[in-house]
Amino acid sequence: MGWCSCYKPTLLLIIAFTFFISQSFAAKFSVPFIWPLPAKFSFGNETLSVDPALSLIGTGADSPIVKAGFDRFKGIVFSNGYGFGFVTTPKAVYAVNRLNVVVHNQSEELQLGVDESYNLFITKAIGSGKVTIEANTVFGALRGLETFSQLCSFDYSTKKVQIYKAPWSIRDQPRFPFRGLMLDTSRHYLPVNVIKQIIESMSYAKLNVLHWHIVDEQSFPLEVPSYPNLWKGSYTKWERYTIEDAYEIVNFAKMRGINVMAEVDVPGHAKSWGIGYPDVWPSPSCKTPLDVSKESTFDVLSGIMTDMRKIFPFELFHLGGDEVDTDCWTSTSHVNKWLQSRNMTANDAYEYFVLKAQHMALSKNWTPVNWEETFNTFPTKLHPRTVVHNWLGSGVCPKVVAKGLRCIFSNQGVWYLDHVDVPWDVVYNADPLEGIQEASEQKLVLGGEVCMWGEVADTSDVQQTIWPRAAAAAERLWSPRQFTTGRNGNLTALPRLQYFRCLLNRRGVAAAPVTNLYARTPPTGPGSCFEQ
Ligand SMILES: *[C@@H]1O[C@H](CO)[C@@H](O)[C@H](O)[C@H]1NC(C)=O
Ligand SMILES: *[C@@H]1O[C@H](CO)[C@@H](O)[C@H](O)[C@H]1NC(C)=O
Ligand SMILES: *[C@@H]1O[C@H](CO)[C@@H](O)[C@H](O)[C@H]1NC(C)=O
Ligand SMILES: *[C@@H]1O[C@H](CO)[C@@H](O)[C@H](O)[C@H]1NC(C)=O
Repeated sequence: MGWCSCYKPTLLLIIAFTFFISQSFAAKFSVPFIWPLPAKFSFGNETLSVDPALSLIGTGADSPIVKAGFDRFKGIVFSNGYGFGFVTTPKAVYAVNRLNVVVHNQSEELQLGVDESYNLFITKAIGSGKVTIEANTVFGALRGLETFSQLCSFDYSTKKVQIYKAPWSIRDQPRFPFRGLMLDTSRHYLPVNVIKQIIESMSYAKLNVLHWHIVDEQSFPLEVPSYPNLWKGSYTKWERYTIEDAYEIVNFAKMRGINVMAEVDVPGHAKSWGIGYPDVWPSPSCKTPLDVSKESTFDVLSGIMTDMRKIFPFELFHLGGDEVDTDCWTSTSHVNKWLQSRNMTANDAYEYFVLKAQHMALSKNWTPVNWEETFNTFPTKLHPRTVVHNWLGSGVCPKVVAKGLRCIFSNQGVWYLDHVDVPWDVVYNADPLEGIQEASEQKLVLGGEVCMWGEVADTSDVQQTIWPRAAAAAERLWSPRQFTTGRNGNLTALPRLQYFRCLLNRRGVAAAPVTNLYARTPPTGPGSCFEQ
């Protein structure tokens, strides 16, 4: 036993993977089946049973967030997905019957960079084994609970939940503070319960930001009290989110240590606003981008932001700014006159719009996030607090951080989940720090995000398009780089990801087979979950 801050998979290990499966197979290997891999871990060779009446003790028991996390843990480990044949006779003896959660700071403030580190110790004392999770914040404690849940598995012969390879000692923390998944509810509406299921599944992979691309040109589902006609731009009156729905989603996410970063994509991608307020269009026949020449356009934007600020406490707010085709500005006479009177080109007006929107967000104490075209077009004009969101290709974050701005990595060639021809290993092998050597510049990369654009994904296929590939990115974003990169780095990833995908399935998530040619396709024939 010893700290495995880096591990060495052997050829034997790789061969062994091809021979599994038994319910205790995780016990046979020296790399644990925890996804994403913890930063440091060591383990022994004992098996401990866990009492279904496991009790929560310690300062964590005083926290509603930890308490709720513990209840979810019990639901997952002792009922959902596992058999119901528990040994419940009073005579049954279990090695582990208490979970001690020590939280050093009970603050429930969830912001970018919140301390998510935790230690997890599983030891066997005489008569009563104890599990201790120690964390600086309640959110670190949640991450520890998730890891603990992945170490518990039902043994079909003893009919007990077992922990293999105890004692365990885990010291863990994320590699990046921003580990995101984007959902698009404009191209297709997603019901609130489906969004909640996705948030729940994100917590299993320790993702911590839901980027909610709520509105776009096709539909405007969100209620905005200041401008009540905006959601007339929803597809139907049943495909909408009330203010209460939005609060519910934010709170549900927070209970799982997940921030919600809302997006209002301007000035392009906003055509749906004009269903309720046609004045925001340059003209009824030329509808995008938003009319830059009218002050009333900015009044609507300001009203949206004021209402949304009450719902979304996360410090980052996404202002879009991508794919702005300015033809309607130059071809619509009143807009063109406005441009000329100010001696502006259409490109100047694009910059003017983005900077004005940034100013509005900043005045509401939000940090603006913008898609990379804004940086590509006027890099020196963006506010210094701007976070640039990469998507078009590789090599953008290196340029962004060289200019001292922060960056989120989402290169579409590797981390756009709607690209269903991108296999899991291409997702896994992409690294947000690619091409960035200086430590001071690496710090400016907040992390990355996988994007689930909704043109061809709705409730019928969204979960299997997200999973398992989002998990590949999640390990890249959480685990130390030497675990996921290089000669030894990714050798054990495939069987571990197959295991995690089966764990998702067991927990009710419709994650697709890992190795099919196209993501989200069903199995190609009979076989074990663990081998596809
Ligand atoms: C289990 O680990 C202990 C302590 O490292 C060692 O002494 C013992 O031989 C091991 N037992 C087995 C069956 O490997
Ligand atoms: C606890 O955390 C909050 C939020 O980060 C912070 O404001 C507060 O100072 C911390 N309290 C202690 C005692 O460190
Ligand atoms: C308009 O801009 C052009 C190019 O920047 C400049 O040469 C010209 O003097 C400007 N005209 C006015 C009226 O500001
Ligand atoms: C592991 O990473 C290397 C690059 O570091 C890559 O060439 C290889 O294909 C990867 N293997 C898997 C199984 O992803």
